[in-house]
Amino acid sequence: MEKIKTTVSIIKADIGSIAGHVVVHPDTIAAATRVLAEAKAKGVIFDFYVANAGDDLELIMSHRKGVDSPEVHEVAWTAFREAAKVARELGLYAAGQDLLSDAFSGNVRGLGPGVAEMEFHERPSEPIAVFMVDKTEPGAFNLPMYRIFADPFNTAGLVIDPKLHAGFTFEVYDVHEGKSVLLNAPEEIYDILALIGTPGRYIVRKVYRRFDNEIAAVVSVERLSLIAGRYVGKDDPVAVLRAQAGFPAMGEILEAFAFPHLVAGWMRGSHHGPLMPVPQRYSKCTRFDGPPRIVGLGFQVRNSKLIGPVDLFDDPAFDETRRQAQVVAEYVRRHGPFMPHRLGPEEMEYTTLPDILEKLKNRFFKPAKTAESKTGVEEPRETD
Ligand code: F6R
Ligand code: MG
Ligand code: MG
Repeated sequence: MEKIKTTVSIIKADIGSIAGHVVVHPDTIAAATRVLAEAKAKGVIFDFYVANAGDDLELIMSHRKGVDSPEVHEVAWTAFREAAKVARELGLYAAGQDLLSDAFSGNVRGLGPGVAEMEFHERPSEPIAVFMVDKTEPGAFNLPMYRIFADPFNTAGLVIDPKLHAGFTFEVYDVHEGKSVLLNAPEEIYDILALIGTPGRYIVRKVYRRFDNEIAAVVSVERLSLIAGRYVGKDDPVAVLRAQAGFPAMGEILEAFAFPHLVAGWMRGSHHGPLMPVPQRYSKCTRFDGPPRIVGLGFQVRNSKLIGPVDLFDDPAFDETRRQAQVVAEYVRRHGPFMPHRLGPEEMEYTTLPDILEKLKNRFFKPAKTAESKTGVEEPRETD
């Protein structure tokens, strides 16, 4: 008899927040919780946990219906709709922002929410890590994913553990073309890096263990701006990873976040800033709407139930990372409207540049090539 498979689905949306784009309201968490509790009572899902990453509402669900299950997606969609209703009643900011359509047709992909799902046979003990990020984009996971699954200076198991030693396969997704490529580490690490070093376009979407092709990690890749064709809010991502016993240890996974690397998506989705790992209680974005933050929750999956969570970054071991993040935040902020703090024109969520160019179009002129400038100052001449 085939062993039963468990699916873990993380589905998230920004359905409105309090005091600006800062943090979700407890009443919206309660509304979503009611919907998920009902779905659990009916046996659609086995278990759930509702959390937040800044202004994003995060539904963490376990069930046996597989990836892209219309029933499970409908539960998530209903939870967001109910939460958005509460957000509207309370006049929360940007209520319903990520629910781009009124019509649900079996899958939330393309309708606004972000999705990371994986299905697996539970090991005798199945630790997982769920990461939720605010004020950044899915490509923010590229660097830590590379370090976790391809860098032996991060993950000792790549050298020492026979199950990790064969390496990992990266599915890299091109968000512009909507196409993926499978690349193997360690042989193809330069090709992997050539792509994922452009995190706004090439995103690590899934990772498989080559030893047995088991799924190791999944990242949400929805880009709201591309879905909607206009700015409707950012695509703050989520990820789920399996840990231990032939996968990277939980500590190897977390080690990849000890460096607060620069990511895109701070203030107005248009600035770079350091990714700061925080405990759940600090999962709210304040300074300049940030800095971009990541929350990590650890669970054990047992008979399709979620045991936990443990708040993974609630540890002084990450104090120094947080301090470094503050130093970097202060440093990049001093650049104000200048790149590279501000994103390049093609990466900004919105910009006034076309309007400004239009307004100034008749005022542009070709500077003369003569020695005298408009100010009458002479070009320096050669002296002997
Ligand atoms: C939204 C976000 C924020 C907003 C900014 C401006 O999640 O990251 O930085 O882009 O607060 O928001 P509006 O235009 O709604 O005032
Ligand atoms: Mg927001
Ligand atoms: Mg957000």
